[in-house]
Amino acid sequence: MTTGNPPSPFRILEIGLAYFASKTLLSAVGLELFTKLGEDAKTGKELQQMLGLSDRANPDFFDALLALGFLEREGDGPGARYRNTPDTAAFLTKGQEAYVGGILEMSETRLYDHWGNLTEALQTGKPVNEVRITGGETAFQELYKDEALTESFVEGMAGSLVHNAAALAEKYDFSRYNTLCDIGGSSGVLAIALARRHPHLKITTTDLPQVTPHAKRKIANVGLSDRITVQDLNFLTDEFPKVDVITLSQVLHDWDLPHKLHLIKAAYEALPSGGALVVVETLIDDARRKNAFGLLTSLNALIEIGDGFDYTGADFRKWAKDAGFRRVEVVPLTGPSSAIIAYK
Ligand SMILES: C[S@@+](CC[C@H](N)C(=O)[O-])C[C@H]1O[C@@H](n2cnc3c(N)ncnc32)[C@H](O)[C@@H]1O
Repeated sequence: MTTGNPPSPFRILEIGLAYFASKTLLSAVGLELFTKLGEDAKTGKELQQMLGLSDRANPDFFDALLALGFLEREGDGPGARYRNTPDTAAFLTKGQEAYVGGILEMSETRLYDHWGNLTEALQTGKPVNEVRITGGETAFQELYKDEALTESFVEGMAGSLVHNAAALAEKYDFSRYNTLCDIGGSSGVLAIALARRHPHLKITTTDLPQVTPHAKRKIANVGLSDRITVQDLNFLTDEFPKVDVITLSQVLHDWDLPHKLHLIKAAYEALPSGGALVVVETLIDDARRKNAFGLLTSLNALIEIGDGFDYTGADFRKWAKDAGFRRVEVVPLTGPSSAIIAYK
């Protein structure tokens, strides 16, 4: 109405039924279609057999992926051969560091079903995933009781962070700092990207004891065990290490306001004068109008945690200033993500 164009149903239908496309891609990732296809070209029949699918899947499933832009096809009809696109070859074949499928695998196994309970979460304000917070434990402590869920969550985080980690390492000037600690660093994806790009930095990555073995394994796999220290650290109860830079990536948004303020204050107290707190999030635009992904990520925090929420740059600026930080700046990363940096 505000644009002066006549009303149209198309955007409504496109978004309302976007789960058709989303779930088709998630099934393909869950079946490891792109990984198994690798550099080969296969007919629909060969793909069907390789993935253990019914006759009904061929050719609709593969042609739907083609029409969505996630497969290429040479020829038409039963003899046609499907290939990965440059994007799926680069980012959806497992075993490559650029693999972003971890977050899609977690969507296939967990989040897609949990989002089906969004209406309930909106009504109750409580998480609607497999986590029911009991006995004073946090959602994470509950989640980490199950090894398969832990692995799925850790790989999901790796998939969502890997390209922002590389962007932060590239775009931010770490040359004036010597020591850095990533708080809630999961499997060490950020520490690895920073260690590679900034060899002078002495880096520690921390998380809960159920998660740090995953960081040790990943860091050893890329030959950086001598450059990155992995440390168990409960960020709600333990002091942060005294370092020049503290990073908090996709951590603050998991928590309610008192916990957010506690984490910002803990970082302030650990930093020297001139030190920096680097926060990575899908920051919501200050007017809360444009960054739909940031706003949807906040609803995801409702689904997963309940009282966690995403926030704007203006929100963070105020919290950081109240904690004593002098100055705050934003560095855009990939897509809707940013780093927001507070200087002591
Ligand atoms: C949303 S994930 C973000 C992981 C990673 N920084 C990233 O950007 O992908 C939040 C992380 O906080 C960690 N975490 C939650 N509660 C914690 C606590 N009390 N102490 C330390 N880490 C905690 C989780 O284990 C998880 O790795």
